[in-house]
Amino acid sequence: MTGKAYLVGAGPGRADLITVRGLTVLRQADAVLYDRLIPPELLDEAPTHAERIFVGKRPGRHALRQEAINELLVRLVRDGLQVVRLKGGDPCVFGHVSEEAAALAAAGLSYEIVPGISSAIGVPAYAGIPLTRRGAAAAFAVVTAHEASEAASSIDWCVLAAMPTLVVLMALTRLDAVCARLISAGRDPQTPATLISRGTTAQQRVLRATLSTLPDAQLHAELPPPAVLVVGEVAALTDTLAWFDPTSVPEHHMLWEDE
Ligand SMILES: C[S@@+](CC[C@H](N)C(=O)[O-])C[C@H]1O[C@@H](n2cnc3c(N)ncnc32)[C@H](O)[C@@H]1O
Repeated sequence: MTGKAYLVGAGPGRADLITVRGLTVLRQADAVLYDRLIPPELLDEAPTHAERIFVGKRPGRHALRQEAINELLVRLVRDGLQVVRLKGGDPCVFGHVSEEAAALAAAGLSYEIVPGISSAIGVPAYAGIPLTRRGAAAAFAVVTAHEASEAASSIDWCVLAAMPTLVVLMALTRLDAVCARLISAGRDPQTPATLISRGTTAQQRVLRATLSTLPDAQLHAELPPPAVLVVGEVAALTDTLAWFDPTSVPEHHMLWEDE
């Protein structure tokens, strides 16, 4: 049988937020390569014969280098296997998909990208926060917080500060830098800012503040990673539209990311 790789988005956390296509290919996999932020129930969906290979970061140990993951993917597909590369959220949003697809393409192997619900969109939704809103927010941007502490960032923070809605991923350890950078780039310090931790799961927690008060509020609240930050008028909608009760979903033992 000809091998093929499927670069699959697992969705933002809750297992049944994977797409039907993602679940279909997972159920036909011979090998599954996965990292952190993958609901464990999803691994049970792969056939019993499928090899399950963890390629993420382990505490105190280095993550497998991206090149090593690429090589592993290529080798397994060359061996004729149906390989699912399972990634948190959407594989095309801060998911290294281009590197893995490029390695497969260079080796002349076939692959398919199966989109998933990105945490950038799905996690705010679970806190009652739509990213756009008629009359108030007609555009949004998604950025990684790494850029806020990069002196050589190519991102224009004045443009980000002017976005009606800004979603910041990997924000927890750089919350001070992100809020300060947005304020110094011209964003009103009173702008609503909401942090959502471990979204869509039984451990979801929401911290609603403003750009100027959020870093202090988080010092006290200590929301654990991973977390999504939403900045903009829509971030206040969690006050009235929060609908998700985390106790309504079963606990699962996710390997949470340590940013
Ligand atoms: C390396 S990025 C990968 C993003 C992923 N490809 C996606 O589309 O969601 C990891 C970041 O996603 C966010 N994230 C992922 N899952 C999350 C969840 N369940 N709750 C809150 N944030 C989450 C956090 O900001 C985390 O630091």
